[in-house]
Amino acid sequence: MSAIELRDASVRLGDQLALEAVRVDLDARRIAVIGSNGSGKSTFARLVGGLVGASSGSVRVEGLDPIKQASALRRRVGFVFSNPDAQILMPTVAEDAAFSLRAERLPRAEVADRVRSALLDVGLGALADRSAHELSGGQKQLLALCGALIRRPSLLIADEPTAFLDARNSRMIADRLFADADRRLLLVTHDLALAARCDVALLFIDGRLDEVGDPLQVIDRYEASLSC
Ligand SMILES: Nc1ncnc2c1ncn2[C@@H]1O[C@H](COP(=O)(O)OP(=O)(O)OP(=O)(O)O)[C@@H](O)[C@H]1O
Ligand SMILES: [Mg+2]
Repeated sequence: MSAIELRDASVRLGDQLALEAVRVDLDARRIAVIGSNGSGKSTFARLVGGLVGASSGSVRVEGLDPIKQASALRRRVGFVFSNPDAQILMPTVAEDAAFSLRAERLPRAEVADRVRSALLDVGLGALADRSAHELSGGQKQLLALCGALIRRPSLLIADEPTAFLDARNSRMIADRLFADADRRLLLVTHDLALAARCDVALLFIDGRLDEVGDPLQVIDRYEASLSC
């Protein structure tokens, strides 16, 4: 069984068929998802992460049904989205990072240790006591990423994590996303250079999975589809 397995999975949102009969097996460690606005990328990411259910067909992620076994999947999956403001919930940087561990009911000292090392990992070690809402956009996104990584997910789902960032912060986030050798990354992005750094890419066109394969070839196909 593959790590991510979809069998004719469709998602209907209102009267819109956001994804249509997606069939794919994914075992690559770094998976890029590309395609035009409204092509179904976020819906695919949400489907894999269990945030939306399949209207028909089936989905398995690490052997789990993302809806029926939602709590087991939630322990393994971390999310990062485009807008870091929406992901920051606590007053200080350290408190916000710690908040992500609340469900794990760890001893206080262990939480403090995990927070310290997770903040160091994303380059926010010196800002632990700062107000989270006063961080720059890039720093907020690093904090959001820290909140996802501190739970040590085996799958990180990042939906346009660099969308609002400048070149320096995009690079910093990308380097963190790609850093861990053990974790699987599902990266939705319009940044084709970032997609090219992945092991495999998926191209969505109008809710259908058009191509899966080597990122450079899939990017070529995407670019060709734009000039049609
Ligand atoms: N909550 C919703 N209700 C109805 N239709 C929706 C909803 N969310 C998304 N859609 C529709 O589903 C389709 C796929 O949307 P999705 O957000 O997956 O696209 P996307 O590829 O992530 O686009 P973008 O690059 O703009 O983020 C679009 O046609 C969109 O209008
Ligand atoms: Mg999207």
